[in-house]
Amino acid sequence: MRPRVGVAGLGHWGRNLVRNFDELAELRLLCDVSSELRESFSVRYPNARVTERYDDLLEDPELDAVVVATPVPTHYDLARRALAAGKHVFVEKPPAVRADEMEEMVALAESNGLVLMPGHLLLYHPAVRKLKELVDGGELGEVLCVYGNRQNLGIIRKEENALLSLGVHDLSVILYLVGEEPSEAWAHGNAFLNPGVEDVVFCYLRFPSGKIAHMHLSWLDPHKMRKITVVGKEKMVVFDDMELERKVTVYEKAPWLPAETYGEWQTRTGDIFSPKIPNDEPLRLECQHFLRLVEGDGDPLAAARDGLAVVRTLEQLQASLTS
Ligand SMILES: NC(=O)c1ccc[n+]([C@@H]2O[C@H](COP(=O)([O-])OP(=O)(O)OC[C@H]3O[C@@H](n4cnc5c(N)ncnc54)[C@H](O)[C@@H]3O)[C@@H](O)[C@H]2O)c1
Repeated sequence: MRPRVGVAGLGHWGRNLVRNFDELAELRLLCDVSSELRESFSVRYPNARVTERYDDLLEDPELDAVVVATPVPTHYDLARRALAAGKHVFVEKPPAVRADEMEEMVALAESNGLVLMPGHLLLYHPAVRKLKELVDGGELGEVLCVYGNRQNLGIIRKEENALLSLGVHDLSVILYLVGEEPSEAWAHGNAFLNPGVEDVVFCYLRFPSGKIAHMHLSWLDPHKMRKITVVGKEKMVVFDDMELERKVTVYEKAPWLPAETYGEWQTRTGDIFSPKIPNDEPLRLECQHFLRLVEGDGDPLAAARDGLAVVRTLEQLQASLTS
C-alpha cells in the first residue's frame, strides 16, 4: 500500500509538493488556513480531505506522513508536533531556525522511530549529484574553495531575510560537497527596504581542512544567478541552474608549478566540457526519496543530521549578521 500523506501549507511551493505526492503516494489530507486555497484544492484533488485544522492531520490514525510547507517561523512547531503524534515528517527548508530546535526534533524522530527529512531540494538535483561525484572521485584534485551566487531582482520578502530565504539552498550544497562543518561562519549584509530584513547578504565560511566558501545572496541585483562554483587544484567546475542544457561545465584550468620556473606558480588551461545531466525534476526525486524512507528503505535520519549541520551554521551566520 502506498504511504498516506497529508500536506500543510498549500501556497506557492506547497502546490508543487501536493502535485508530486498525489502522483507518488496516497494524498489523504490537505490543510491551509486560507479558505480560498482550501476551496480550489478540494476541486483539484477530490479524493483528499481538505481542512483548516492542522490537528486533523495529527489525529488521523491512518495518516503515515505529514509534509510541512508553511512559512518558515511555523516549521519547528508544526514538524515537532507531527513527530510527537507519531507521523513521519518532510519539512520545508529551513526545518528550524535554531540548532536546539532541530536537535530536539532529531532526538524525537529517533526515539519514535520516524523519518525526519528537511526539504533541501538542491541535494536531489542531478547536477549537484554530478558535482559531488566529481569532488569525491578526485577529478578536481584537492578542493580549495566553493562559492554560491543566488541573486535576482525580487522577490522582495518581508518576513525572512535573504540568508534564510535564499542561503539555505547554497549552504546545504556547500556542506554536502565539502563534507565538513565550518569552523568559522560570518555574514555581512544590510536591510535596505524592510527594517530588520536583510536584502543583500555576503557569507564567508572556513572549514577545518582549510577549504573556504562564500555565498552572495540578494534580491537587489541586476543578474539572475543560480550558480555554484567549485575550485579544485586540478580542475574547476560550475553548476549554472539558469542554463537549460549545459548545467555543469568542467574547466581544465588550474594552477601549475613547472619544474623550470623554480617555485614560481603559473596557470594552465585545457578543455572545457559539459557532462550529460539527467533531466529529472529534483522535487520529484526528493519526494520519491522521502517516500522510500517512509517505506523503511534507507537511513531515516541521515538527511535530518545533515539538516542539523545546516541549521547550526545558519544560526551562526544569522548571529553574526545581526551582531
Ligand atoms: N525547496 C524550495 O525550493 C522552496 C521554494 C519555495 C519555497 N520553499 C519553502 O516552502 C515554504 C512555503 O513557501 P511558499 O512560497 O509556498 O509560501 P506561501 O506563503 O505561498 O505559502 C504558505 C502557505 O501556508 C499557509 N499557512 C500558514 N500557516 C499555516 C498553518 N499554521 N497551517 C496551515 N497552513 C498554514 C498559508 O496560508 C499559505 O497558503 C517556505 O518554508 C519556503 O521556504 C521551498
